[in-house]
Amino acid sequence: MAESQKVAVIGAGVAGLASARELKREGHRVVVYEKSDQLGGTWVYDPRVESDPLGLDPNREIVNGSLYFSLCTNLPRQLMGFSDYPFEIKKNGELKTFPGHEEVLTFLNEFARDFGLVELIRFNTEVVRVEHVDSRNDQWMVESRMNELSLEEAFDAVVVCNGHHTQPRIADIPGIEKWHGKQIHSHNYRVPEPFQDQVVVVIGDSASSNDISGEIAKVAKEVHLSSRSPGIKVTKLDYYDNIWQHSKIDCVYENGEVAFQDGASVHADIILHCTGYKYNFPFLETNGIVSVDDNRVGPLYKHVFPPKLAPRLSFIGIPYWVVIFHMMEFQAKWVARVLSGKVFLPSEKEMLADIEKHYRRMEEVGKPKHHTHSLHSDEFEYLDWLAAQMGEAGVDEELKEIYRTLFKLIDKFLADKGWIKLRELVVENGVFEK
Ligand SMILES: Cc1cc2nc3c(=O)[nH]c(=O)nc-3n(C[C@H](O)[C@H](O)[C@H](O)COP(=O)(O)OP(=O)(O)OC[C@H]3O[C@@H](n4cnc5c(N)ncnc54)[C@H](O)[C@@H]3O)c2cc1C
Ligand SMILES: *[C@@H]1O[C@H](CO)[C@@H](O)[C@H](O)[C@H]1NC(C)=O
Repeated sequence: MAESQKVAVIGAGVAGLASARELKREGHRVVVYEKSDQLGGTWVYDPRVESDPLGLDPNREIVNGSLYFSLCTNLPRQLMGFSDYPFEIKKNGELKTFPGHEEVLTFLNEFARDFGLVELIRFNTEVVRVEHVDSRNDQWMVESRMNELSLEEAFDAVVVCNGHHTQPRIADIPGIEKWHGKQIHSHNYRVPEPFQDQVVVVIGDSASSNDISGEIAKVAKEVHLSSRSPGIKVTKLDYYDNIWQHSKIDCVYENGEVAFQDGASVHADIILHCTGYKYNFPFLETNGIVSVDDNRVGPLYKHVFPPKLAPRLSFIGIPYWVVIFHMMEFQAKWVARVLSGKVFLPSEKEMLADIEKHYRRMEEVGKPKHHTHSLHSDEFEYLDWLAAQMGEAGVDEELKEIYRTLFKLIDKFLADKGWIKLRELVVENGVFEK
């Protein structure tokens, strides 16, 4: 493979910026397409919400942001930098352990500026089609749109960095078609005020369900958390007068009742779905070589390369439950080095076999398909594996220790105290700021 490739990067969020930097460092020629007018992706706060709060109406105007106004990071800032570029943005002269979303955006803008990435980005330019063209020297065609202007360009390789926090995933609730209350997905949650004096059922057991329920509990009458995790304790939360935890919803009724599998039931005004997002690549045409099924993007070797199209097509940022910024940096470095011919991939057959092995192991341990890209409990194994491909040391021991300490605290306190309290505890005890 020639050393310097012409590479298209789709998206200028964390994944796109990390990719642009590594590709540039390897001497590739990079064009970053960004449909919005600024970089940062997820970290750009948009106060607007969609007309359909569940995000199901295909004719709605899509709002791409999913941040709520008060959002602070759920990882300490030490875990949200890059290996050679730590996150040390001060607000009011102070380094925050869990910075707000504005500080993350500032950090990303400084990162892009310091590595000369802004010049590589074409803003307000949406990629609408990416297609492999066999007849033209194994190239990729990228069709983009800026205002009404449409442009087709050929590239040696395409790195997909379009993110996966825009298309809501909704919980299936028996009886929901007859239920008359309001429903909203966390994608369209910004501020707690609309929940004033309401009885709210919050579905999900992620950081956002936990965070948002703590915030709306301050104004709502009652908040009932519903989780499908098997081990859930049915209880009122410590620290809150009005948050209860329940198992899965069994059924909802026309009279507004929401019945949980644990036997409890409440009359609710609002159901808030904090049930995550779907992977979606509307621009990608691969003749079925890459597909999304039940939140599994596949087949992807190590969550990055579709074996048949490797290394010219790659995906950065697919896995979750991991130190995201570091992971994207390592994935991007791997892609950049493979493209410049410094690092080699196994054969297509070997890559496919590895993917099969991953799927089989998931089945053996009973991990559902929709968790294909969750790295929970083996996150560092993956990151260290990526680093090893480049002959580099893996994640810094100190960072691993911070991550493990955080998860010990989460296991011990999160269920009873919630994220808001957990952050306070961490900060009060100076756990990560020594
Ligand atoms: C509510 C919430 C809280 C989070 N909190 C944390 C946290 O505390 N810590 C953490 O590490 N992570 C957190 N995350 C995860 C966060 O998404 C990642 O940290 C990271 O921002 C993902 O980056 P990305 O580049 O993969 O995707 P995105 O940030 O979504 O960026 C994708 C970019 O691609 C652009 N794009 C998409 N399609 C096209 C197209 N067709 N053409 C051109 N451009 C396109 C988009 O406009 C966007 O700018 C959170 C996510 C959410 C939703
Ligand atoms: C969000 O992105 C879509 C294209 O994917 C675009 O049509 C829409 O205008 C964007 N929304 C906003 C509010 O910018």
